[in-house]
Amino acid sequence: MSRLIIISNRVSAPTDSHSGAQGGLAVALSAALREYKGIWFGWSGETVDQFTGHINFQRAGGVTTATVDLEEQDVEEYYNGYANRTLWPLFHYRIDLAEYERDFAGGYSRVNDRFAATVRPLIEPDDAIWIQDYHMFPLGSALRERGCQNRIGFFLHIPWPPRRLLAVLPEAAALVGHLFAYDVIGFHTQEWLDSFCDYAIDEMGAVLDGDQLRLGDRSVQVMANPIGIDAKEFAEASRTPTARLAYRRMRDSAVGRDLIVGVDRLDYSKGLEERFLGYERFLQEHPEERKEVFLLQIAPPSRGAVGSYQKIRATLEGLSGRINGAYADTDWVPIRYVNQGYPREQLAGIYRAAKIGLVTPLRDGMNLVAKEYVAAQDPEDPGVLILSRFAGAAAQMGVGAILINPYSAEEISDAIIAALKMPRFERVERWRAMMDNVEAEDVVWWRKRFTDALIGEPATRQPAD
Ligand code: G6P
Repeated sequence: MSRLIIISNRVSAPTDSHSGAQGGLAVALSAALREYKGIWFGWSGETVDQFTGHINFQRAGGVTTATVDLEEQDVEEYYNGYANRTLWPLFHYRIDLAEYERDFAGGYSRVNDRFAATVRPLIEPDDAIWIQDYHMFPLGSALRERGCQNRIGFFLHIPWPPRRLLAVLPEAAALVGHLFAYDVIGFHTQEWLDSFCDYAIDEMGAVLDGDQLRLGDRSVQVMANPIGIDAKEFAEASRTPTARLAYRRMRDSAVGRDLIVGVDRLDYSKGLEERFLGYERFLQEHPEERKEVFLLQIAPPSRGAVGSYQKIRATLEGLSGRINGAYADTDWVPIRYVNQGYPREQLAGIYRAAKIGLVTPLRDGMNLVAKEYVAAQDPEDPGVLILSRFAGAAAQMGVGAILINPYSAEEISDAIIAALKMPRFERVERWRAMMDNVEAEDVVWWRKRFTDALIGEPATRQPAD
């Protein structure tokens, strides 16, 4: 049976306890690694003066992780540079924020070569390799250059931009060319998949035949495969003592007011500025609702070395301060703005206490907060999900969420008042439709669809007579 080698920029070792420190994706990938007895390889998050390629192996919770340190300059050019100053903004439709520096592109390919050279000796002939996300587009091709003939899959967790947007990237054609080194490429939605195929077909002359995209003598299977959460585990997490305590505390501190919750990495793609403005609009338009609600925005800082992240942080501090200054009273603050993260069980309790989940990214590959919010609700008295049309999750959660255009403060304001006034039977009906999807298309479903395409029928399955 083939082993599975997972490669991603960040490696998340499983925790032995059920503290829920690992995110949903990490839990799913760890489970896959236990099943296939594989290795999870990536950057340690640490730097050294001189790159050595020394691998640090660790084993926890039945999973082997293998990590390498990078040089300061690598991190600057590859992670802070090309990945997060060039690709991330461009792939989230922010050409205004994207920076194009040859040093970034050079550092990005150098680090991918370093990863390839380091991981190559660990790969055995029968192994299947699964590479994750935009930090590592060229890794498959760097492995092929080193004689690797294994099955290699790639999954993109962020959107794929429209063809003419991608065309502004100086290395666009080379980058797309690298993707033909893979055997299978997955995206969260049909929209991202279509945009990818558009570029390959219209700009490079590729041909799509069923789910096979051909360019020259290379053919790659392309699939839309939306990631889910471990719904059962998350619903259970929302009923643990830790979650109950978080729920109680939230309810007590709300003193009868309705909680609207947002939980996002502090990132400009999450539409936090627009969300605050939409909420302010709601306060203006519905004075009778002031003091009846409050917004809890949890936003742990992210990628703080990158200027655009420092800027969005400052903007949100100013905006939350201004809105609170304008509307707060001695016994009420409209926005509780919190710059730290919380463990999963605590979050689950907070989600359950919230009458509204506000998930309004300007663009998002999927957005699992939307699904976690649904999974944490009380089936008898669920809250309402307000969701951006531009999140990948809208393709599945559109069945029950109130979908909005996150750029429109009016739509956000209208959605909040509609959610607050929504009768219980309608909330239950909408929630059920979403929950059916969250349960059916969960993270194991996602992972199996991909590994089945990459590896074929798992060897553990008995062939039918
Ligand atoms: C997004 C990306 C992931 C990334 C995560 C956290 O979800 O798709 O690849 O790991 O953000 O960002 P960070 O830069 O802290 O790893």
